[in-house]
Amino acid sequence: MKESVLSIKNLRKEYICGRSWLQETETFAAVRDVSFELYQGETLGLVGESGCGKSTLAKMIVKLVKPNAGEIYFEGQNILDMKEKKFRCLRPYIQLIGQNPFGSMDPRKKLIDTLSEGIRCHHISTNGKSLRGYLEEILRSCELQPEFLDRYPCEFSGGQLQRLAIARALALRPRVLVADEIVSALDVSVQGQILELLMKQKTERNMSLIFITHDLSVVRKISDRILVMKDGKILDEGSPEYIFEKSECLYTRKLKEAMITFPY
Ligand SMILES: Nc1ncnc2c1ncn2[C@@H]1O[C@H](COP(=O)(O)OP(=O)(O)OP(=O)(O)O)[C@@H](O)[C@H]1O
Ligand SMILES: [Mg+2]
Repeated sequence: MKESVLSIKNLRKEYICGRSWLQETETFAAVRDVSFELYQGETLGLVGESGCGKSTLAKMIVKLVKPNAGEIYFEGQNILDMKEKKFRCLRPYIQLIGQNPFGSMDPRKKLIDTLSEGIRCHHISTNGKSLRGYLEEILRSCELQPEFLDRYPCEFSGGQLQRLAIARALALRPRVLVADEIVSALDVSVQGQILELLMKQKTERNMSLIFITHDLSVVRKISDRILVMKDGKILDEGSPEYIFEKSECLYTRKLKEAMITFPY
């Protein structure tokens, strides 16, 4: 039987969207009753239109956003119930890579300092190497030059920055990677290279991956299983073959039609 790494149960997130002394507080549910499993070594694609709650879900999984209800189990442990001090030991194992790598790096710090932070903070072993030696090895595995460690974020292209963001996550030896629209801002040829790198690293390091996108063609290529999200809910779920050829879900069909009739 497949082993579940991450188990999401009835997750809900409400944001406050209107508050004044005249009005009662209004809330908006960005994620509503979402449940799914992520299995060991699996690539789980999550697709849905802009604003359907994908990033909110991603942030809840890595505990950057607190859900209003629901449970998240990582390797059998309820991480939402866990005190922050205890969760700190697990934090490196669940890593989020976002769409804006430049925004996630301190522009005043050299790459070596940015990449070292997590390793020092979480006491990650550097396999008997110096910290610099360990980071140089990670950079090489992401097809980046080791000398990049002495540069600042503003000195890189978008594609290089996204590779650096992947390298930073890999340095912490995660077991689960949540990749939120990581190639959406890149041109098609760079997209392909980054996806190839991500999938190679995922296989070599035996990680499980949640790949979030609004691009159905990408998700079809790389996923073992796909979740279709709309208005904060999972409407459809299945293998790429099921989603693209057999699903009778009206919304999935609409997404597929939008992909096929895309004007260019
Ligand atoms: N901090 C916040 N406060 C209030 N509302 C928010 C907040 N973050 C997100 N939202 C709202 O929640 C909804 C879901 O946002 P989210 O960023 O999760 O969508 P998404 O599916 O990732 O969209 P995209 O594909 O454009 O990245 C949106 O309507 C958004 O306006
Ligand atoms: Mg998003």
